Amino acid sequence: MSELAGNRSAGPGETLLQVCDLAVTFPSADGAVRAVRGVDYTLRRGEVLGIVGESGSGKSVTSMAVMGLLPNTARITGSVMFDGRDLLTLSEQQLNTVRGNRIAMIFQDPMTSLNPVYTIGAQIAEAVRAHRDVGKAQALERAVELLRTVRIPNPEQQAGSYPHQLSGGMRQRVVIAIAMANDPDVIIADEPTTALDVTVQAQVLEALQAAQAETGAAMVLITHDLGVIAGQADRVMVMYAGKLVEVGSVEDIFYTPAMPYTLGLLGSLPRLDQQLERLTPIPGSPPSVVNMPPGCPFSPRCPLSTAVCDETEPGLEPIGDDHRAACHHSSKVSGVRPDEMFDASGVDTEALGEFVDAAEGRS
Ligand SMILES: Nc1ncnc2c1ncn2[C@@H]1O[C@H](COP(=O)(O)OP(=O)(O)O)[C@@H](O)[C@H]1O
Ligand SMILES: [Mg+2]
Repeated sequence: MSELAGNRSAGPGETLLQVCDLAVTFPSADGAVRAVRGVDYTLRRGEVLGIVGESGSGKSVTSMAVMGLLPNTARITGSVMFDGRDLLTLSEQQLNTVRGNRIAMIFQDPMTSLNPVYTIGAQIAEAVRAHRDVGKAQALERAVELLRTVRIPNPEQQAGSYPHQLSGGMRQRVVIAIAMANDPDVIIADEPTTALDVTVQAQVLEALQAAQAETGAAMVLITHDLGVIAGQADRVMVMYAGKLVEVGSVEDIFYTPAMPYTLGLLGSLPRLDQQLERLTPIPGSPPSVVNMPPGCPFSPRCPLSTAVCDETEPGLEPIGDDHRAACHHSSKVSGVRPDEMFDASGVDTEALGEFVDAAEGRS
């Protein structure tokens, strides 16, 4: 068994961010939308934590709650400890100093973070000057250096470009450069490559990796695509219907998944040779998080489901060292291939192995 994230195994550092029993509910005419239902996690200095799950599983709301970016209608409980303070109790003004400075956020659409009327060089230089006592010329020099770090070609000339003159992938690299200029402790990247095509995705992930390595920041990388996590994360949290359903090292998640849903996500990785074709999609779709029935929310889609699954929602239970899964039948998941669990007649399952190899850079 080889390491998927071997180049970054620096070992666990100190705890930077500690999220405890975080829950978020939105009122709606049909009843409470239980977007996040009790999430716990710890982010350590220098590590990359992946959050993965299908659309609607609560990944963004979890992070927006951490950043204090949810609308006032949201009911938030639990705690988010950062630097000795519970972020959930801070005023808007106090949060403003944390956001951007200590915790940087990168969204799917880079234009939400860029100002269309300033050149990208000016925008990065401004972030530099907010943190370092340097003159304009020096700040611009640093901006060019940062553009080079995120692999923008001809950074001296490109510094004079406006956001609209750049492609989506280039813009996302600029956002990453601004995040770096702020020298954050934590970078939260929410689907940073989802809007980009596959080759550009890889380049932006590389830029993120460079940013993380240079700043030493911890990173939370949110994606619906386990493929994005493979080459990046140290640890992975799998979310479903507002809860964590499996947590482990990237090796645990890829090689010994213990929750059928995780296996399903592995099975639906895109094939390398045919970008559009997925291996084994998970049948059905995620449940509504309004008026949820009791039991495991994945039960209606789960081939292992039995009576107990519809009666009691399983909690996260230890599977191994730092590996936990929420499944009444986790022992039956080990060693099973995605196509054996979910129907996939005539599908080439070797492609999964190829995919993991490629993510490790071994192919
Ligand atoms: N502002 C909001 N008001 C009401 N419901 C919301 C709001 N934002 C998100 N939701 C709901 O919360 C759930 C989780 O959403 P989200 O965290 O965005 O999912 P993900 O990022 O995993 O795709 C979804 O059911 C979504 O419809
Ligand atoms: Mg989202």
